[in-house]
Amino acid sequence: MERYRVLFESIRQGVVSQDQDGKIVLVNPAAERILGMPFQEMKNKTSLDPRLQTIHEDGSDFPMDMHPGWIALKTGQNVKGTVMGIFNPREGRQRWLNVSAVPIITPGGKHPIRAYMIFDDITDLKQTQLQLKESEERYQSMLENMIDGYFEVDLNGNFLFFNQALLEISGYSSNKLSKMNFRELMDQENAQCFFEAFNQVFVTGQPEKGHVGELIRKGGDKRIVEVSSSLLIGPDGEKWGFQGIARDITEQRSFGKEKERLEEELRQFQKLEAIGRLAGGVAHDFNNLLTGISGYAQLLLPKAEDHPVIQRGLKQISDLSDRAADLTRQLLAFSRKQPLSSVVVNMNALIENLSRMLRRIIGEDIVLKSMLAPELWNVSVDPGQMEQILMNLAVNARDAMPQGGEIIIKTSNIVLDQKFAKMHVGVKSGFYIELMFSDTGKGMDKATQERIFEPFFTTKEPGKGTGLGLSTVYGIIKQHKGNIWVRSKIRQGTTFEIFLPRAAGPAAELGRKRDTKIMPKGTETILVVEDEEAVRNFVHQVLEGQGYRVFTAPSPEEAKEIFERKGWEVALLLTDVVMPGENGFELYKKLTSRRPSLKVLYMSGYAMDTLIQEGEMSPDIPILQKPFPPKVLTNKVREILDA
Ligand SMILES: Nc1ncnc2c1ncn2[C@@H]1O[C@H](COP(=O)(O)OP(=O)(O)OP(=O)(O)O)[C@@H](O)[C@H]1O
Ligand SMILES: [Mg+2]
Repeated sequence: MERYRVLFESIRQGVVSQDQDGKIVLVNPAAERILGMPFQEMKNKTSLDPRLQTIHEDGSDFPMDMHPGWIALKTGQNVKGTVMGIFNPREGRQRWLNVSAVPIITPGGKHPIRAYMIFDDITDLKQTQLQLKESEERYQSMLENMIDGYFEVDLNGNFLFFNQALLEISGYSSNKLSKMNFRELMDQENAQCFFEAFNQVFVTGQPEKGHVGELIRKGGDKRIVEVSSSLLIGPDGEKWGFQGIARDITEQRSFGKEKERLEEELRQFQKLEAIGRLAGGVAHDFNNLLTGISGYAQLLLPKAEDHPVIQRGLKQISDLSDRAADLTRQLLAFSRKQPLSSVVVNMNALIENLSRMLRRIIGEDIVLKSMLAPELWNVSVDPGQMEQILMNLAVNARDAMPQGGEIIIKTSNIVLDQKFAKMHVGVKSGFYIELMFSDTGKGMDKATQERIFEPFFTTKEPGKGTGLGLSTVYGIIKQHKGNIWVRSKIRQGTTFEIFLPRAAGPAAELGRKRDTKIMPKGTETILVVEDEEAVRNFVHQVLEGQGYRVFTAPSPEEAKEIFERKGWEVALLLTDVVMPGENGFELYKKLTSRRPSLKVLYMSGYAMDTLIQEGEMSPDIPILQKPFPPKVLTNKVREILDA
């Protein structure tokens, strides 16, 4: 008996003895320690006592009749391995027990008179298990919720394990991927690079971070991935594979590139804006001077009939100023300050009309092909300016193909969406037609492409090009609220992409130009209002020379004074648009209110944009663009008076 007592008191397990009513009658020191109270406090209490309350693993109460001790007492059977939680008041915390119960039946007796409950404290074990389970769960959910792909491969690169994200990046099913090798997800070159990265990890044992390569998805799509990998090492130190994270950085990459490109586009845009303002200002003043110079030269010509030397000189002056006027016209086109005479046209018709002329320009060694969309939308454009664009592009293409080649003109309808508009400077979303002008010529490098729209930028030898061709094209397109881009590859060719906004309404017939070879005469009275003295005098002389009666005024103020006195005689108001004080439109409005039959013809160098929104000048407004030769002036005046 003594032997048992020593054992009872010294074993690690707790032992509690209950009588047949379930009351505690004996406990050993280990039980006192585990349960956290002295025997005195437990004595004669049952497991119904609140202080001895036990719980299941899931936290619910342990009822008396499920208690191992109670079951042993009632059934006479051994009960094994019941896990229950108790509250240890001494430590103030939960402890977990693994309890077995043994009934004691006296020889000859039927019912147990006692039960021994023997229990192990498994709190620490359970804690470890719980942590393990939690961390496994956390690990699992982290893997599955990760945006990055996770993988484990063996030393040969065969997939052993991966998460959902890797399936999404690769496009394969779990079934398929588990039978694949990483090499099957990329081309040879990338596979070699990744192999070298893995090898590095294997040899050094150090993780490798941020290895970037290209992955081929199921179906052939390519993705750019950034992979970080490290070694998988077994408990015995054996290297058995690699684990890694694969991050899909395709979007980021292209976003970064897009941003750079957009910034570059903005720089280009601002540069051309600035040059445009400068060029426009110079050209405007220049134009006024040229109108005077060439006007006087032309006027004097008939008077010098008997003086061949003077006549030749005057002809030179006139020719040279015409050439200067041509230059300023191009500069004005670039700075978008040219008055537009827009009509609704179909670009296909315009291209077809022009193709004969274009063929003549490009010569026989170059083939001109056009691919015109059958249901092309109409655009509202100045047909003359569009011809200018096509000619300039054709001349450039010809110069880029000295050995011959091909020009392709293609039209199509296109909708530019918000996303596209956001990614390009100065583009509004909406309906457009696209005009593509391609050649198979020598192409240009990046540096040239960046500068081609600048006025006076040319790579041609002196005398061959002025560098105004493409700046004119650019200005005209912008004035039409369109956009132009260039794509080019050295030795492969160049493509210009032009977008023009769709216009509502039916297309107009493309008319013929009026014959302006003769100078028509007249006898009506004309009121000329122009603040620039040279222009005013030139116009005065030309019109008087053709038989008209002319009153001149340097300002709207004085014009109104003249009108006050002679208004009933005046048939036509010929006025500059921009003048100090009132502008030409306002002046005409005031005068017609007095005499509704008064006709008007405007003269302008530029700056329509301050009066009418850029590019939207109504085609009905009769306007003469400065500088103009006497022929143009007299023809236009006659045309208005006869209308
Ligand atoms: N289709 C093209 N292929 C290759 N390079 C081109 C092409 N179009 C233009 N370029 C380059 O752009 C430059 C500028 O062209 P742009 O038309 O503005 O001026 P230019 O042709 O040199 O002179 P201009 O047109 O005033 O006679 C050209 O000198 C050439 O280097
Ligand atoms: Mg050119």
